[in-house]
Order: sequence, then structure tokens, then C-alpha cells
Amino acid sequence: MATLVSTTDLVKEFPLHGSLFDVFSARRKRVHAVDRVSFSIAEGEVLGLAGESGSGKSTTGRLLLRLIEPTSGAVEYRGRNVTSFSARELERLREKVQIVFQDPNSSLSPRMSVGQAITHPLQIHGIGTTVERKERVLDLMEKVGLSPAEFLYRKYPHQLSGGQSQRVVLARALVTQPDFLVADEPIAMADVSVRALILQLMRQLKRDMGLTYLFITHDLATAKYLCDRIAVMYLGRIVELASRDTLFSRPHHPYTKALLAAVPVPDPKARRDKNLPKGEIPSAINPPSGCHFHPRCPYAVARCREARPPLREIAPGQFSACILD
Ligand SMILES: Nc1ncnc2c1ncn2[C@@H]1O[C@H](COP(=O)(O)OP(=O)(O)O)[C@@H](O)[C@H]1O
Ligand SMILES: [Mg+2]
Repeated sequence: MATLVSTTDLVKEFPLHGSLFDVFSARRKRVHAVDRVSFSIAEGEVLGLAGESGSGKSTTGRLLLRLIEPTSGAVEYRGRNVTSFSARELERLREKVQIVFQDPNSSLSPRMSVGQAITHPLQIHGIGTTVERKERVLDLMEKVGLSPAEFLYRKYPHQLSGGQSQRVVLARALVTQPDFLVADEPIAMADVSVRALILQLMRQLKRDMGLTYLFITHDLATAKYLCDRIAVMYLGRIVELASRDTLFSRPHHPYTKALLAAVPVPDPKARRDKNLPKGEIPSAINPPSGCHFHPRCPYAVARCREARPPLREIAPGQFSACILD
């Protein structure tokens, strides 16, 4: 399959706003949110981006859409460098590449009806006539389970359930008929009863509309349901990247193993290693030297403190940034 989206050595550092003294100081601190991240997503694929809070997942997602500018590195969409897009090309990209955030309530305006909210992107991009727009919106509403569409079209966010709100956000992202969707923890805020339904819907929409996803989650159990391949991030770096089945059956990186051990298992008698991960996630402001995970790693040796471990192919299609075998 052809590559749809890829990143090469993507870096994002945020300046840390400290005291006035710091502003003039050469020691001015930076947050290393994304630290040389490279991956590619094939057309029709779902790539998961997993890892604890603060590992740089959302920043990576925003960089892909060029909602923020990278410090260095490249993002390519259909083989073209997004970083050098003109304003006009960027506008076209915003039609084809969309993002869904975790909290539907904060991404919906309370003063816009469901119909207005979903129609809005069509107006921005000048797509269709008024009649065509309404037809497309009603059709899409039925597709995402906002039914009866004619009835819900006139409702406002406060009149919707949490599940319905998330469906509106999805519909709004899909109305311009994008081919790539970044879903940033789209079910993290949803009730347990709603989560499975939204995931099912996302899987079905992907099939029906020929979509490609970057699916961001802190929860590997969710990634298992939807993703073809999964990249595990830790403090701004990808530490492991493999197919879903490989990642779950033969994880290589100690951090992946730790995350898997923390995934809730349906059988309460099943044995789980509760000793991992130990310690707090360190800060991206002063990340540990060498392998960022070494202070929490039960297998760490002296070498792990010294140099950044490369992401190497330890088995066909499985990449791990651990120097140990
Ligand atoms: N706009 C920003 N300014 C400063 N620091 C930021 C900004 N956005 C994110 N960060 C920092 O970058 C790191 C990665 O954040 P984020 O990408 O949101 O991680 P995740 O989505 O995995 O929780 C964190 O340390 C976070 O505090
Ligand atoms: Mg996030």
C-alpha cells in the first residue's frame, strides 16, 4: 500500500517561560515534547500512538496537521513536504486531513445547532450549494448514527448525550470527505457504555469512507481493537513500533512490557506483574540521559545511561529502541 503520511526526524521543543533572567540566559529551558520521531502510515491503515500522558502524542498529532510548526524535521502528505506548503495548499490540506479531540463539549460551540456545526466546514471550504450541503450533512448524520437526522439537525449541544456529541464531532471532521483523520483520545472522556460504540463506529467509517487514522490513546486495550500497527512513545521518542499482534504477543521494549502489564485483564485471577512501571514519569524538560526509560527500567545496565538507543529492527517489521536482546 502507498504511504499516505510520514514523518522524518520530527522535533518539537517548546520554550519554557520562566523568569526575566531566564529569558536572557543561555540556559533557557525547553520542553522536548517530540524528539526525532519518524514513522509512516499507509493508505487505509490505522497507526496507534500509545504512551502515558506527557509522552508527546498530542504534539505529534498537531504537527501532522501543521496546527503547530515543527522545530525541525519533516511531515509528508502524499509524498509532499507539508512544512513548505503555501497558504493555499494548507487550506486544501485542511479539507483532506482532520483531527478529533477527546472532549466533544469543549470542541462544540454551545450556540451552534448540530446542523450548523456540521455544515460549518463546508462553508469555510466553499463546498456545495446550500441545498447540497444540507443533503450531505443529513446523509452523514445518519451514517454516524445521529438518527433521525432531520430531528437532531436542529438540536443544540446541551440537548445531546455524550455519545451523540462525540458523533457530531466525528461528523464535522468527516463532512469535507478527508482521507486522513487524527483521533486524539476520542473516547477518553466518554462513558464506558459509549466507548465501545464509538470505536465500532470509527472502524465502520474507516471501511465505508476509505479513511486512514492516526489513533492516539494512553490505553493499549483500546489500541488493540482498532489499530493495525502501534507506536509506543515515551518522553517524546518512539520506543517501539510493531504490528498490533507482535506488540501484544512479543513486546520487546521494557516500557511496552510495562504498559501491557498495566492493561486491565478481564480475568481477575490472571497473573499480572504489578511491579511495573515503577516510579513517576520523568519530565520532558530535563529528560534522563541515554535511554529516557532507564531510571524506571528493571533491566537497565550502565550503557543505557550513556547514549540514545537507536530504533532498530529486531524482527521483521518490529522496531525497538532497546539495546538489550
Ligand atoms: N504549548 C505547549 N507549551 C509548552 N509545553 C507543551 C505545550 N504542549 C505540550 N507541552 C509539553 O510537551 C510534552 C508533551 O505533551 P503532549 O504532546 O500533550 O503529550 P501527550 O499527548 O502524550 O499527553 C509535555 O511535557 C507537555 O507539558
Ligand atoms: Mg494528549
